[in-house]
Amino acid sequence: MAEPKATELMEKIVSLCKRRGFIFQSSEIYGGINGFWDYGPLGAELKRNVKELWWTSMTRLRDDVAGLEATIIMHPQIWKASGHVDTFSDPMSTCRHCKKLVRADQVWEQLPENAWAQAIAELCPGGHVDSARLLGWAKGKGQRVAPNLALVRNPETTLSWLAERVQQNPAPLETKELYQYLATEQFRQTGLVTPCPHCGGELTAPRPFNLMFKTHYGPVESDDNLCYLRPETAQAIFVQFKNVMETSRQRVPFGIAQMGKAFRNEVTPRNYTFRSREFEQMELEFFIKPDEAVEALSGTVAVPQAPGHPGEPQADWGWQLWHQYWVEERIKFYEGIGLPRTTLEEYWQKPEELAHYARACVDILFKFPFGTQELEGIAARGDFDLSQHARASGKPMGVFDETLRTAWTKLTKEKQDELWKRYYEARKKYLVKMGVEPEVATTEATADADGLAKGQYIAHVIEPSAGVDRLILGLITHAYSEVTDTDDKGKSETRVIMRFHPRVAPIKVAVLPLLKNKPELVKKAQEVFALLRTQMNTYYDEAGSIGRRYARQDEAGTPFCITIDFDSLGEKPELLNTVTLRHRDDGRQERLPIAELLSYLLPKIR
Ligand code: GAP
Repeated sequence: MAEPKATELMEKIVSLCKRRGFIFQSSEIYGGINGFWDYGPLGAELKRNVKELWWTSMTRLRDDVAGLEATIIMHPQIWKASGHVDTFSDPMSTCRHCKKLVRADQVWEQLPENAWAQAIAELCPGGHVDSARLLGWAKGKGQRVAPNLALVRNPETTLSWLAERVQQNPAPLETKELYQYLATEQFRQTGLVTPCPHCGGELTAPRPFNLMFKTHYGPVESDDNLCYLRPETAQAIFVQFKNVMETSRQRVPFGIAQMGKAFRNEVTPRNYTFRSREFEQMELEFFIKPDEAVEALSGTVAVPQAPGHPGEPQADWGWQLWHQYWVEERIKFYEGIGLPRTTLEEYWQKPEELAHYARACVDILFKFPFGTQELEGIAARGDFDLSQHARASGKPMGVFDETLRTAWTKLTKEKQDELWKRYYEARKKYLVKMGVEPEVATTEATADADGLAKGQYIAHVIEPSAGVDRLILGLITHAYSEVTDTDDKGKSETRVIMRFHPRVAPIKVAVLPLLKNKPELVKKAQEVFALLRTQMNTYYDEAGSIGRRYARQDEAGTPFCITIDFDSLGEKPELLNTVTLRHRDDGRQERLPIAELLSYLLPKIR
């Protein structure tokens, strides 16, 4: 449940984002559209910086990752093969009264955010029922805030069921049970019902709701040309695996990175941009050899020995070490853009929470004001994806490794049999799970294991999958801070400083002539501006007092301000062509020659 303080903080952040041009509601002049957000001038720069840093660290600074930019609409069979058509859904309930749609698995999380639920919690502290107070509320304020709650519509009947419950079991009620009783009118017929978080009305039983946005290609709208807006960028990587591997001359282990738009028709978009219907992802599919191939080649499969970064990748790493490696690499990335480890948490999904294809999944969580929530998921997906596309398209997705073929011939018969059997079992398990007849699965798994002995296998995959917009929200909420300044007359003013890491800050440096009506100062400032703007996003501002201009830049999160004063023009000859550089976070100022500005600033922002 979001604390009132957290709600207040989020309100301030949302208001700042609009006021300063970080984030606007999409289609605002038409009343907005739920779950869609636009990035204003500062937000667009912030987002661009984040994506650029991810792309650089994932592709350009690595020898083993190639990039991809695929289309948003792809062949609809892709989504059948990936499982999205059949299983990419959320449980949805509808309120029988206000008709709003609610994600059934989020009702109890959403409820405490609403005024009526908060009022009930106050009327029954600790789950102790006070019928008289509930009745008073139902006949008064409840009429306005929860018109469809059973307690409000028919208080006497509803309270009678509650009295029965208390009589049978005088222990205080759990919060959930209390809300359920207050939402129930026809107890004998329906049992306890679940209330709508918005109006208190009764929710229907949940039913699955597919999250993919549908559209049609070509002029005729029929089932034959139905297609989907991609709900993740990952699938294009799998279907282009062969093309990318061949054209980039990569060999497993290697990765393919892609960033771009994804669309999910979320039942209840919420928490500002956190759960949107249109968003961006930054995904890497890192392809590795199956452990049986690693063992045949290296004689052993190295597994994690200790928590933390396992160091430079080694030939004998199995999937677990690769998984650990990518979790640590991703945390390192977040630290490098200003989210310290203390703001992050690793959540290892429990076996029952894992997607059916996943062997393991670690969520990197961030402490948002509204709770600690997922920023990125790093899944070990086995060979599910490539196998599915191979079967659905009929095109081979395996790789051939000559060194594996040679290494296999040098293994003892015993080792060959052991690895063959393990690979066979794994392939058969997958095929049977996907509904292939046991006999056919046996034949296919035998062929796969025979293929391994000849140097062929389907690559496994480790998938670090991050959301750009969630990261932007994380960076904004982390950067937000307030300071209170008190002037000589004792007058206090609270203002906002956005403490972005210089690498992600939308504006890197602001150039400020001390006075705007002194042409020499303005000319020198324009020279400095021209020097810096080709290398970094630079802002020129000559309006208002220098203090006001600093404050404006603090609010935008600009880490450095450069002031051109009379000393810059040589009033003190030894300071000719120097400027004052002010640091946003501590207000510290230092004097630097103009000629050294680039070499000073560039390493700090890259
Ligand atoms: N290919 C794997 C995949 O898409 P996911 O956990 O569904 O996995 C990955 O999504 C990331 O995408 C999430 O960790 C989150 O950052 C982001 N994301 C997912 N749904 C989102 C939504 N509705 N709004 C904003 N970001 C979302």
